[in-house]
Amino acid sequence: MSPSSFIHRYLPGTDLTRHPLLLLHGTGGNEDDLIPVGEMIDPAASILSPRGKVMESGMPRFFRRLAEGVFDYPDVIARTHELADFVAEQTTAHGMKKPIAVGFSNGANIAAAMLYLRPEVLAGAVLIRAMLPLPTGPEHALAGLPVMIISGRVDPILPLDNAKRLAEALRQHGAMVDHRVLETGHGMTRNDVDLARGFIAGING
Ligand code: MLT
Repeated sequence: MSPSSFIHRYLPGTDLTRHPLLLLHGTGGNEDDLIPVGEMIDPAASILSPRGKVMESGMPRFFRRLAEGVFDYPDVIARTHELADFVAEQTTAHGMKKPIAVGFSNGANIAAAMLYLRPEVLAGAVLIRAMLPLPTGPEHALAGLPVMIISGRVDPILPLDNAKRLAEALRQHGAMVDHRVLETGHGMTRNDVDLARGFIAGING
């Protein structure tokens, strides 16, 4: 495996005019976790689903944290570039369109970090339970990039106020942000899947 490579699954879609989905799991998940969700969101799209390389008590994640909600920022930055390089390589290798990231929890946070640092590798993002990934940024103009953030009003792990600040930061840099708040907690619900499906159908036109 080359240094920028990730354990992953790639499932070619039946309609290559659609943007592939880049599925990014939460803490303790793996590359298989979100495949059924991706297939519900867009059954015709290709899927790229990497496994996070950081281990926290045996649970895969996409970057290190010092405590819940307290991120190791240098690690966030390094891992974000590594993942973005992998996504760019895979996009070229499979002759795909740029993917739309669909991330949950820790996966949503690394997707948010990609929007901050490497937005050129993505066609958009759905961030299910996200927070500010870095203290400053985004670093690049996001020129109309479509982003949906879906928060849980009573999420004890990713506070709504923090997600609102993320939405604002992305908007200030030109992203087209649709921030939805569900009357729920941290776990992913059917409503998340339905919102993501509608949003991504809109991007694909
Ligand atoms: C994170 O570490 O990215 C967030 O706290 C969400 C989590 O994975 O629990």
